[in-house]
Amino acid sequence: MTNANLLPTPEKWPHLLLPAASAELAAGAAAGAGAANPADLDAAVKAGAFAGLTEAIRGMTAGEIVAALARSELRGRGGAGFPTSEKWRACALAQADRHYVVVHAYQADPAVFTDRVLLERNPFAVLEGAAIAAVAVSASEIVVAIRAEATAAIAVLEAAIAAAEHAGYLGEDVLGSGREIHVEVKPLQGAYMLGEETVLLKGIEGKRGQPEQQPPYPTTRGLYGRPTLVHNPQTLAVIPGIITGGPGTHSAAGSAHGQGTVLVQISGSVANPGLAEVPLGTPLGEIVALAGGVPAPHTLKALLVGGPSGGILPPDAEKIAYQFEALEAAGAHMGSGSIVVIDERSCLVDLASVLTRFCADQACGKTIPCRIGLRRLAEIGARICEGQPRDDEIVRLTDLSADIVASRLCDHEGRSTLPLLSIVRYFRDELDAHILRSTCPAGICHPMATSRPGAVS
Ligand SMILES: Cc1cc2nc3c(=O)[nH]c(=O)nc-3n(C[C@H](O)[C@H](O)[C@H](O)COP(=O)(O)O)c2cc1C
Ligand code: SF4
Repeated sequence: MTNANLLPTPEKWPHLLLPAASAELAAGAAAGAGAANPADLDAAVKAGAFAGLTEAIRGMTAGEIVAALARSELRGRGGAGFPTSEKWRACALAQADRHYVVVHAYQADPAVFTDRVLLERNPFAVLEGAAIAAVAVSASEIVVAIRAEATAAIAVLEAAIAAAEHAGYLGEDVLGSGREIHVEVKPLQGAYMLGEETVLLKGIEGKRGQPEQQPPYPTTRGLYGRPTLVHNPQTLAVIPGIITGGPGTHSAAGSAHGQGTVLVQISGSVANPGLAEVPLGTPLGEIVALAGGVPAPHTLKALLVGGPSGGILPPDAEKIAYQFEALEAAGAHMGSGSIVVIDERSCLVDLASVLTRFCADQACGKTIPCRIGLRRLAEIGARICEGQPRDDEIVRLTDLSADIVASRLCDHEGRSTLPLLSIVRYFRDELDAHILRSTCPAGICHPMATSRPGAVS
């Protein structure tokens, strides 16, 4: 099992995704140690598993399932926050001989393992949510696309699928309804871009992965050219609760611009790195506090929110709500669900430059503004860090970023400009120190001078 440090959260916060976590934390158990077998179907059914699927199959039409989802206002947890019910409606309406549901458990950000932890600890919730989706869009096949190296999650999933098939919750004749719902676990190996949904679908098909122009969206032309729902495991795991408990169970948590909870991984300069289930809309500062904050004598300098293509936000961003619109307005995004806490020892220009180079290296190369533009952007960052900026470097950086965003084919291109743009927006003094005075205040960039005591120059 992934050695994840589950962080304690305030008592009033719900555990919609990891319901066993509160008991585990209360018992003071080490992550995973002594936890109940997550693939124990009898125990899961006693706790309510498959009640949602039973209700969806026996008591609801496909239209009623989609309507319940629409009332819950559930938005996708894969990063973009798209309304889930709209995808289901479009997929259900698309005419084809076959529909698919894909559980997107690839988790592209190599430093984040929230979805893996969810699958290891609550596999039936994800499978049940996917099965309800299959009922709503008339799909008979679910594919769980997962990183091949997530061996513990794959083992738990396979055991859970076998148990659910044996009990008639999945397989040939689901709950005696005559409906078939088969689940295939598809381990995949690839790079960052495999996280983009059209690349993921090609990966499942065994083809070379490059994003496709959308529309058509996967909901109408997806896996093997058929209508396909692609969802993050966190999106799917709350759907059984929405069906059984009414929309309230999900929408009771969260804020006006996003309901429910999300798994957030907090790392970097904090006393106790780990992951926590957080209601949408929680201020960033409260989330960082769950991990013990920045250890003294160090001080908070910035927060990297959203993974490698995330925004680098200043300390007063602690007030910003962790939800789709607020983060976007601040120049960040939820992305992979990661928050990296940065203290005064780091150089943010260097960090943004390294992240931009990572994004340029990961770009698949299909579109020229991304392939060449991100490379040139990374070079601007490198020149600034090496003390060799050209004239008007900041103007070049912002103009090029705007061109890249305007011509994007997939979201990678637009988001990859965020790290360097954050430095222009929030950390201008540090940028000016590098460009105008050949000084790296943190003492990281060589061969620059430094103004930080103790740093090597
Ligand atoms: C570069 C890139 C990487 C992505 N990585 C992931 C990922 O690891 N997991 C994920 O669920 N979605 C990822 N997405 C978003 C997916 O394309 C898609 O929007 C999402 O899986 C839809 O699921 P949802 O409706 O549950 O949000 C990524 C997108 C891009 C552009
Ligand atoms: S925008 Fe970049 S990552 Fe996306 S398809 Fe084009 S080259 Fe590939």
